Amino acid sequence: IPETITSGTALNARSQNAAIVAGKTGQVLGYKNGILGPTFRVQRGSTVTIPFINGLSEETNIHWHGLLVPAAMDGHPSQMVTAGQSFNYTFKIDQAANMAWYHPHPHEKTGKQVFTGLAGMFIVESPEEKALNLPSDAYELPLVIQDKRLDANGAIMYSPTLEEVMIGYMGETITVNGVSSPFQPVTTRMYRLRVLNGSNGRMYNLALSNGNSFLIIGSDGGLLTAPETVTSLLLAPGERADLLVDFSKIALNSEVYLQSNSFSGVSSQGSQTFKILKFMVNKTETDTFKMPTSLNSITPLSTASATKTRTFDIGVMMDMTSGSHGGTMAMKGMHTINGKIFNMDRIDEIVALNSTEIWEFDNTNGDEPHPMHLHGTFFQVSSRTGGRGNILSHEKGLKDTVLVMPGEKVRIITKFEKVGKFVFHCHNLEHEDDGMMLNFEVK
Ligand code: C2O
Ligand code: CU
Ligand code: CU
Repeated sequence: IPETITSGTALNARSQNAAIVAGKTGQVLGYKNGILGPTFRVQRGSTVTIPFINGLSEETNIHWHGLLVPAAMDGHPSQMVTAGQSFNYTFKIDQAANMAWYHPHPHEKTGKQVFTGLAGMFIVESPEEKALNLPSDAYELPLVIQDKRLDANGAIMYSPTLEEVMIGYMGETITVNGVSSPFQPVTTRMYRLRVLNGSNGRMYNLALSNGNSFLIIGSDGGLLTAPETVTSLLLAPGERADLLVDFSKIALNSEVYLQSNSFSGVSSQGSQTFKILKFMVNKTETDTFKMPTSLNSITPLSTASATKTRTFDIGVMMDMTSGSHGGTMAMKGMHTINGKIFNMDRIDEIVALNSTEIWEFDNTNGDEPHPMHLHGTFFQVSSRTGGRGNILSHEKGLKDTVLVMPGEKVRIITKFEKVGKFVFHCHNLEHEDDGMMLNFEVK
């Protein structure tokens, strides 16, 4: 479990050595010690200041994914901190309790910097959430799930081939909080698992190895209104899930795994079941947890209140033999939104401040999954047609990233309340770096 810190702690992006696999120490990037950064825990309403030092030999910055911060603090790809320079991130936490995260956002280098180790969790707490008495302290586990590719010395390797730009760069070593073959002792009671898929391209179809059900109590933007009981949950890069798992149903001194079950719909991944995290039930404890009757109140945005509908074609057809972009296998720009690749200075969409809009992501003709992410707002999933065909359990709350599978058309609805220039993009980081990102300006 990464160290927990609060406002005022400096982050220093730098190259260092870490042991991801026991016994091998290789070169990685990190914000403090080892890969990943510490987990921030802050109270809603507080103002945080995070001095950031770029100790890399190239530009980087920090984007606060899932925090509603002013545009100037959001880590837009045009707001870079050059090598050796520093920047003070400061913003007020003005949103519901949730689990956010932070990572670099330099255009064309996000995939590399995140994969080699730069990311961390950011948990917002509130009195309302505290009053629910959800499992906390030792019973609340923040879990960053990532896959890594390591060389013989244990250093993280990042060099995607053309095909890996297509499907996303994946690694064979599954890590939780930067550690491979992770193991967590638990007692016979309810635990809160706060899961982030911090991978570049890999999706996890989360399940328990004994087939038991578990509860989803929250997603990207905070708690759902009521828990949802599921036996699996497909989580795409950038998405978070707040889960309750009842270990009292598991015999003392036995083990159970959080694993990824095989899934369909994507030819490039999902064919195998693999283990993610081992839990060992090693102690009997009386569970004092009582499920609250209501978790949260979320007012559904009505589609009638939307003043505009924008449609985005994200269905890039891949044709590896002829190339869909003019007969050659161009390395850049095979991933587009409405046929456009990212341009730092071009404003693609202008949105009126405080207006409610429907955005439709159309992957009807595509053959790759795209987790679409908006900065500067949380949204509600309003409909899904094609593919999985409905709004899923973890999509019943506020989201900032929504998975659009091949064949799907997903509509989201949101009110834009932050002024300024933000990006929206696919959170498959190879797709993003390839250009699958646009700017929108709220004014
Ligand atoms: Cu998590 Cu624009 O990113
Ligand atoms: Cu973000
Ligand atoms: Cu994508």
